[in-house]
Amino acid sequence: MELISGNIKLRAFRITDADRLTLLANNKKISRNLRDGFPNPYTRDDAVKFIQQCLEMQVVTFFAIEFLGEYVGNISLSPCKDVYRKSAEIGYFIGEPYWNKGIASAAVNLITEYGFKQLDLMRIHTGVYEYNPASQRVLEKCGYNKEGVFIKSIFKEGGFWDEIRYARINPYVAQLDP
Ligand SMILES: CC(C)(COP(=O)(O)OP(=O)(O)OC[C@H]1O[C@@H](n2cnc3c(N)ncnc32)[C@H](O)[C@@H]1OP(=O)(O)O)[C@@H](O)C(=O)NCCC(=O)NCCS
Repeated sequence: MELISGNIKLRAFRITDADRLTLLANNKKISRNLRDGFPNPYTRDDAVKFIQQCLEMQVVTFFAIEFLGEYVGNISLSPCKDVYRKSAEIGYFIGEPYWNKGIASAAVNLITEYGFKQLDLMRIHTGVYEYNPASQRVLEKCGYNKEGVFIKSIFKEGGFWDEIRYARINPYVAQLDP
């Protein structure tokens, strides 16, 4: 499974991505914007375990991002459960040397189309921490709407922060009456 737009490709992970994943993910400027499950320091063991989990997935929803043929980051859709099963949470990071080249925006557009057209999702959402304007900008560029602010819901690095919730609704699906 590959999703391509210009110089950007989303593809399945390979175990050979482990070294570059470790190199790019081991960065506080990245982990401070993500859940605590994304470790810092980020070791090669963390990378190998993560890639192995991705390789075991039945449906591919976690992708490696390539820019000009080189692995530069991760993007994922985590499907929700129960009555939320037509929703998924989007997550992503780009290695710092590759920031501000439009890579995240292209990857978000690709995986959003995949989620709506192939996974039949109605809604894709995420929460961005208040101190992350770059990610807010990415989501806005990709047609996500700001839905609300969860005040002081994040406890990160010893402080409380607002989470800004963004979502996009599937434009290809009509709402069915119950
Ligand atoms: C957020 C992140 C994914 C953006 O990746 P990227 O490839 O640089 O994103 P893009 O180049 O597509 O777009 C970035 C946009 O943010 C803007 N931007 C960057 N820094 C900014 C800042 N401090 N304030 C406001 N806007 C900013 C850029 O100018 C660009 O907008 P533009 O195209 O209108 O000029 C990347 O910085 C990252 O991985 N950060 C750490 C992990 C993270 O935050 N993940 C998302 C969690 S919700």
